[in-house]
Amino acid sequence: MSNQQNEQFCIPRDVVSLGDYERVASTRLTHACKEHIAAGVGDELTLQRNREDFDRIRIQPRLLRNFAQANTSCELLGSRLRHPIMLAPVAYQKLVHVDGELATAAGAAAVDCGMIVSTLASASLEDIANQGLSLLWFQVYFQPERAATLALVRRAERAGYTALVVTLDAPVSGLRNRAQRAGFELPEHVTAVNLEHFSRPPQRALDSNDSVVLHGFMADAPTMADLTWLLAETRLPVLVKGVLNPLDALELKNLGCAGVVVSNHGGRTLDGLPSTISALAAVRAAVGDEYPVLLDSGIRRGTDVLKALALGANCVLVGRPQLYALAVAGALGVAHMLRLLHTEFETAMALSGCPSLADITKDCILAD
Ligand code: FNR
Repeated sequence: MSNQQNEQFCIPRDVVSLGDYERVASTRLTHACKEHIAAGVGDELTLQRNREDFDRIRIQPRLLRNFAQANTSCELLGSRLRHPIMLAPVAYQKLVHVDGELATAAGAAAVDCGMIVSTLASASLEDIANQGLSLLWFQVYFQPERAATLALVRRAERAGYTALVVTLDAPVSGLRNRAQRAGFELPEHVTAVNLEHFSRPPQRALDSNDSVVLHGFMADAPTMADLTWLLAETRLPVLVKGVLNPLDALELKNLGCAGVVVSNHGGRTLDGLPSTISALAAVRAAVGDEYPVLLDSGIRRGTDVLKALALGANCVLVGRPQLYALAVAGALGVAHMLRLLHTEFETAMALSGCPSLADITKDCILAD
């Protein structure tokens, strides 16, 4: 897409990177909404580390490689991806665009990119599935009652989703001070429509010595028994999102999960967690070479994708940039944002001397 064409379709001329989408979106969103999206938890140490640790890694290039058979595609859980990049599950997308997840899905479909739809989507999971995506997974937050979780899973199965991604790193909400200071509240018209029919079971009464967090919220937190139950209930492959510890990764592999997503929720859960790129190599070592390992949190450049693959990821997910692109230019913005990332990644492969994903190994990066 030339810059002149972009302008015709309302993509500002100076939007040439994912960071540019954030810059422009921040002039179009309300302050509270912007802070809600950008915020990390607490002092945002983990949020910063996600970027700093990517930036610290240097690439070791090779010259004179043969690109006659160059290829960016890979296979993941039996599906072919044109690029090792997917959209991370991101809640309540109607916050930034009237069509929300429907526009995101249409944009992703236009560039053949897979999408993971959040339990907290603001559009119906069936309508999203009708947007023509070639790869569509459903993210599951366990509901307080198993019947509700199962009802969601059955809907996703019927609608054609081909994998479940169970997010386990946020059983309670992280305290995102930046969003709190800005007074962010979900507007009334933006709701988790796929949960609308579920009534909340009565909460256990807390006595005065009980902690609201530890005894209140955590009473509903999923356990190993819930995950084992889900694995037995569905024939879809189940990945777990929010893994940082290699011991968890190995345990989940042994339990029968189909893969793990190394994630710290974009720095939004517990401040002080490691960056995902620094946690990746140990997770890969724990589960072996063949097991699907995905990574998110901080991916903003094609070179980040290359670094993540070099350290053992099969695929990366992009979170906040999809909201920024959606806010700036709807479906077209999402497609353009992904195209920018694809092109950057291809350029990184070309200039580091990696004609295929198999060539992207730890030899492509310099150890400190
Ligand atoms: C998220 N994320 C998230 N994760 C999830 O499993 N279910 C969800 O509903 C959401 N919702 C959500 C909303 C917003 C506003 C943000 C910013 C993030 C986390 C998301 O899937 C992903 O892990 C991070 O966004 C990745 O980090 P980056 O790419 O935003 O740096």
